[in-house]
Amino acid sequence: MHHDKRGLPITAASQAAVDAFDASIDEFLASGRDAAKLLTRIEDADPEMIMGQCLRGYFMRLPSLARLTALSHDALAKAQALAPGGTDRERKHVQALGAWCVGDLRGTNAIWESILVDHPHDILALRLVHFLHFFLGDLPQMRDSMARVMPRWSPEIPGYGYVVGCRAFSLEENGEYAEAERLGRKAVEINENDIWAGHAVVHVLEMQGRRQDGVIWVDEHETAWKERGIFAHHIWWHRALCYLELEQFDAVMNAYDNQFWTEPSEDNTDICNSSAMLMRLDMLGLDVGDRWSSISEVCATRVGDRLRPFNDLHYVMALAMGGRRDDAMAIVESMKIFCADNANSGVTTTDTYQYAGIPVAEAIIAHSEHNYARVIDIMRGARYEMRPLGGSWAQRDVWVRMLIHAATKDNQTELARALLAERTVANPTSGPSWNMFADALDKCGATREAGTARATAAGLLAA
Ligand SMILES: [Fe+2]
Repeated sequence: MHHDKRGLPITAASQAAVDAFDASIDEFLASGRDAAKLLTRIEDADPEMIMGQCLRGYFMRLPSLARLTALSHDALAKAQALAPGGTDRERKHVQALGAWCVGDLRGTNAIWESILVDHPHDILALRLVHFLHFFLGDLPQMRDSMARVMPRWSPEIPGYGYVVGCRAFSLEENGEYAEAERLGRKAVEINENDIWAGHAVVHVLEMQGRRQDGVIWVDEHETAWKERGIFAHHIWWHRALCYLELEQFDAVMNAYDNQFWTEPSEDNTDICNSSAMLMRLDMLGLDVGDRWSSISEVCATRVGDRLRPFNDLHYVMALAMGGRRDDAMAIVESMKIFCADNANSGVTTTDTYQYAGIPVAEAIIAHSEHNYARVIDIMRGARYEMRPLGGSWAQRDVWVRMLIHAATKDNQTELARALLAERTVANPTSGPSWNMFADALDKCGATREAGTARATAAGLLAA
């Protein structure tokens, strides 16, 4: 029996195959460019390695791309055929891949969590369950998952820093910002390539409204993170969100064109970054030129793919705002068919489509048609159903902004005032939010309060 670099027994033809497996996981943990390419090395060394096939199946599902998910079924079939010769842990990985392939995402997580109870150093199970809890918006589960394994890790175990980084992100999404920042910075000190840990810190700074700190943090690590894979684009997007809140709109446009949408991309993170940024800019009344067109062209090829509700809503934004209303409507129709076809089937995303995907998509289309009363009708309730969409609080915020924008545009001045009162409590350091609040207060005749809000905005934006 061979062992991986953390000492876990692994069924393989040779240590070279196990080393290739470890290298592939290292690359995955560092959001590197070559994780998928390294699969070939495993395949060459041992085409019958159970964990090699599981890893291939997992990698084919992670990006939520239809052409890749099809390949995960082939890996699953091979892994299932090999499973009788594996260990109990390896057989559980095969079961987890099987559950993922039929869309039982919470079942998949339950299997990975059961692996971690007995094998807390199974860093693949650890990183994947962290990913999929996040994908589902299961935030307490994501936090508690990391809390259970942390005492079993120490600096001499390979990969320790990545585990600290995951813990940091899990705390950040649960609002425990101080500890999240401390751990995120610690993980980056251990290994600057740990861009996911760096991302946890970026989120803390975003959620605490520390936008200058956010720009500085990304600037400081830009050289290292440029060498990472596509996920680096998401970091540049975060920096641009900081610019946006600082009202440095030229810097936002520059980052858009030269850092995170430099050319049409098939990657879902790229699409989500860009679609959400254009939506924010549009709602601020800024001219985004023809930038919607290149995203919407990519999204138009995905009208029938229902792999992740969160991504789909970004496709709908690009299509509806990019003048392809029929394609946007076709996605909503496809979501409805997906729900009907998968009712009571155990497919985890069915409820998410039902309660969040479809309503928010319809609100986005209404927004694109300037039917703001309808946006308000839908989003007043739907905003509280959005967490299962996954993605971060910072990402889902684009649709909360859509509700506030609709209230303003529909001249529902008291509603806009109420929503902006709420927002300035939640984001007290957001200059643009205080300015919007001041405008709403003016429209309601609350001139004195408007003056105070405007002064607060000016102070924040000058700082
Ligand atoms: Fe993020």
